[in-house]
Amino acid sequence: MSSNEKPQPNISLRPVCAEDSPILHAFESDPVWRSVAMMKPRSKEAFHRIWDRITSGEATDIIQRTILYDGEVCGTVGARIVDDQWHVGYGLGAQYWGRGIATRALALYLTEVSIRPLIATTAASNAGSIRVLEKNGFTLQSTRYAPETDRWVGCEELRFVIQ
Ligand SMILES: CC(C)(COP(=O)(O)OP(=O)(O)OC[C@H]1O[C@@H](n2cnc3c(N)ncnc32)[C@H](O)[C@@H]1OP(=O)(O)O)[C@@H](O)C(=O)NCCC(=O)NCCS
Repeated sequence: MSSNEKPQPNISLRPVCAEDSPILHAFESDPVWRSVAMMKPRSKEAFHRIWDRITSGEATDIIQRTILYDGEVCGTVGARIVDDQWHVGYGLGAQYWGRGIATRALALYLTEVSIRPLIATTAASNAGSIRVLEKNGFTLQSTRYAPETDRWVGCEELRFVIQ
């Protein structure tokens, strides 16, 4: 490696398991995390209900992976079917931000999961997420004002795609 190249973080993906659920719920319970993602608070029970569907293998419309950083659970990346299209999303605990982890984790996911096209939507204010998508070859398809839902805060939203 030359002296001006960034070292690659030690990142791997593995299938999700029930033990990940409280760790991942704690990550998204951080108000800073939620304000970046434009997500509303979710109860532990609501989170576990979804996570239980994924870990039991019942959810054929979701392909989720846990992200490990040096063997520690640091976040999650996954795709799910929304309105007949596969949408990808990711999130890390705030203590892991800014180390190139999401970029690398999404690259690993795209290698493992060959479904295309894959859509990604992100708040226009989420500069880190936009950059993660661009660095992985996603292109901007459209923008819109996404109205508030029970899960998301209303915001200007960018829709990216990879073919
Ligand atoms: C968005 C998120 C996944 C980024 O993760 P990360 O591991 O910090 O991202 P990376 O370190 O791989 O950074 C990727 C690029 O974005 C840039 N970046 C990261 N955060 C940034 C920020 N807040 N502002 C501007 N640029 C940012 C990095 O500098 C890097 O670009 P570079 O390689 O050109 O320097 C993380 O902030 C997160 O988990 N947020 C909460 C959940 C979320 O928003 N999920 C996505 C949409 S639902």
